[in-house]
Amino acid sequence: MKKVFIETYGCQMNVYDTDIVKSVLGSNGYELTESTDDADIVLLNTCSVRENANRKVHNRIHNIRHQNKKRDDLKIGILGCMATNFRKQLLKDPKLPIDFIAGPDSYKRLPQLIEEVNGSVDTENNFDVTLSEFETYSDIYPSQTGGINAWIAVMRGCDNFCTFCVVPYTRGRERSRSPQNVVDEAKRLADKGYRQITLLGQNVNSYNHEGATFAELLDKVSEVSGIERIRFTSPHPKDFPRPLLKLISDNPKVCKQIHLPLQAGNTRVLEMMNRTYSKQEYLDLVDEIRELYPNMALSTDIIVGFPTESDAEFEETVEVMEKVEYDSAFIFKYSERPQTIAKRKFPDDVPEPVKTERIVRLNKIQKQHSYQKNLAHVGEVQEILLEQDTTKRSDQECQGRNDANKIVILPKGDYHKGQFVMAEITDASPHTLRGKVVEVLQK
Ligand code: SAH
Ligand code: SF4
Ligand code: F3S
Repeated sequence: MKKVFIETYGCQMNVYDTDIVKSVLGSNGYELTESTDDADIVLLNTCSVRENANRKVHNRIHNIRHQNKKRDDLKIGILGCMATNFRKQLLKDPKLPIDFIAGPDSYKRLPQLIEEVNGSVDTENNFDVTLSEFETYSDIYPSQTGGINAWIAVMRGCDNFCTFCVVPYTRGRERSRSPQNVVDEAKRLADKGYRQITLLGQNVNSYNHEGATFAELLDKVSEVSGIERIRFTSPHPKDFPRPLLKLISDNPKVCKQIHLPLQAGNTRVLEMMNRTYSKQEYLDLVDEIRELYPNMALSTDIIVGFPTESDAEFEETVEVMEKVEYDSAFIFKYSERPQTIAKRKFPDDVPEPVKTERIVRLNKIQKQHSYQKNLAHVGEVQEILLEQDTTKRSDQECQGRNDANKIVILPKGDYHKGQFVMAEITDASPHTLRGKVVEVLQK
């Protein structure tokens, strides 16, 4: 029996896909191993969203080859977004000792690909990066080993073509899974003891399966008994459906938390990014959300130093952050990606030190906001889903998350992961809350 080691980079979609790959290989007679030492095949499920994600994988390939110098039989395969985006470079680079490549829509063919690699030395043909208009892996249940939170990919690909983004090229066209198929997967997860589900797509607002909308899907998933919390990521601010907003506010199982990627605060930059909303439209949407549900937790993604972004335009990103006061934010320096419209049309002209200055500034602002937001929760009693019976720092403590997805540390007691408790928040730092349990819930 051949042993496979698989390592995952990038976003939750890749984490989800790794479970698909494990399932495909498992049912084809491969055994999974936890280390490269005893592996016959090493698979790296890669990300290509920014240059440093790329670099990490290059270094890792060399490092694995170096550690296994004497093992000519060890095969390395590249999966995921680098596979599609860098196929030519990956195969032609003599300094990159890899054996085969499979893109995100080719995982069902992996067993065959691995067999071909073992049988031949013709590396020119050891790849399959064809992107599909239809593949949703609906017939494969990802291998999940148990836990509290499970992810379900409800759609794949992206048709938005934000000019900075490589995802439409690495993952191809948008396609949605049927609501029934998603509900079946949710039921299976509930039977395995999962309590929370996060529905996943590059832009869930454009979910469309024969006319069924994302709000309808969310509603159906919320009827699955055993699943008590549902999250989703990400919606696009350009077309946030109002029925979805209403469902989030009204449905007790849907968490009161929205990830609303801003990317930039200036309308001209947003236009260059092809985000198709203006600063004002974004702010109006935030107002509408807060009117409907004042305590909705909001998080975001921001890019600093997009081509031609001036100091004054950057200040508008600061302004939006100050107005919205996000609970958390992921802030990135613009990184030029192959194939993208931005790379073809706009020179990467914001100097690196300026990008650094901007990212440092935004991270500082965000840290303050996160801390203020967290401090405001001290004294509240919140419902917590316990996720771990110990914490990294102590086996006398356990941890869970509140509805807003914030980590809450609690003293250990007669309650365990998978259970819901009511806890009084007693202390806050920028990243975590602390509390004491006042009631163990029976659900
Ligand atoms: N589909 C998701 C985003 C996936 S990529 C969405 O639209 O919400 C996650 C984040 O990476 C993006 O929101 C963006 O902020 C960042 N990102 C994508 N391409 C980038 C690039 N070329 N340089 C820097 N950051 C980038
Ligand atoms: Fe990329 Fe935009 Fe699609 Fe998100 S919506 S994956 S940022 S192209
Ligand atoms: Fe995800 Fe990275 Fe691909 S963020 S979609 S793994 S480029």
